[in-house]
Amino acid sequence: MAISAPTSVRTHPAHGVAVRGVGRTFPARDRRGAPKPVLADVDLELVPGEIVALLGASGCGKSTLLRQVAGLDTPTTGEILIDGRPVTGVDARCAVAFQEPRLLPWRTLAQNVAIGLPRGTDRAAGARRVTELLELVGLGDCTGYRPRQVSGGMAQRASLARALARNPGVLVLDEPFGALDALTRLQMQDLLLDVHAAEPTTVLLVTHDVDEALYLADRVVLLGRADSAPRSAPAGVRSVVTVPGARPRDRADAELALLRARLLDGLGVPSHHEPVDPDQHHSI
Ligand SMILES: Nc1ncnc2c1ncn2[C@@H]1O[C@H](COP(=O)(O)OP(=O)(O)OP(=O)(O)O)[C@@H](O)[C@H]1O
Ligand SMILES: [Mg+2]
Repeated sequence: MAISAPTSVRTHPAHGVAVRGVGRTFPARDRRGAPKPVLADVDLELVPGEIVALLGASGCGKSTLLRQVAGLDTPTTGEILIDGRPVTGVDARCAVAFQEPRLLPWRTLAQNVAIGLPRGTDRAAGARRVTELLELVGLGDCTGYRPRQVSGGMAQRASLARALARNPGVLVLDEPFGALDALTRLQMQDLLLDVHAAEPTTVLLVTHDVDEALYLADRVVLLGRADSAPRSAPAGVRSVVTVPGARPRDRADAELALLRARLLDGLGVPSHHEPVDPDQHHSI
């Protein structure tokens, strides 16, 4: 099924995000263990409305950094600012969606989306907003369905609508399409771009898929340890790549193929700089 979204539903201010000198060391798991430094000296600025993708090996601290932006985890050092004001706890300016949709099974899709509405939203206005968002993500006909009656892709779209219901200035997405089949995943990427055009929030997205990062993001940030660092060393920003070309991009673009090779090298995956094969799907 093609997924399309209507144009402009509503605009609200997107926020800038500043990650300044952020580090995170988790305490030792037991008395004999050592504290675990996961992130160190992470600096990153997102301008309002920008889409930034975070790439990095499994366990390098991507989700930890996202959780900190959303106020779900606190940095050990440094600070995170949204729109110039520090994040000190779960932050209403930021909404999060994860790899699993995390919908309440006993509620309808509309009721699940309504959970995301800001507290104190007028009932009629809230119902209108929920309908608007479900239409935006292509679920206008499924508002009364329960999560078990819809596909994984549809559930993930409802989860995105629930996140948008908060009117977030920053949308934080942790591998949002990671559990979907390849075709649905491509459709969801286009949907996210449509949603971003209609609701232009700042987006920080974690993905393991290099092609997805290059298709969606204004900039791709590679997180990891320096090559010479020991395995126990914390990760930081290894490189930042500005992705050329206006969206929607040609997935088979030659310039993107070069960037893909560079990013895969940075991730330690030899790419051999092969000519572009549009059917090839690179993920780590
Ligand atoms: N609450 C916690 N307590 C202790 N260690 C933690 C905690 N949360 C994360 N870690 C550790 O921090 C490291 C980074 O975890 P994180 O989930 O941020 O990685 P990731 O880059 O998102 O990995 P993946 O790509 O597999 O999702 C891991 O080694 C993990 O075990
Ligand atoms: Mg993660």
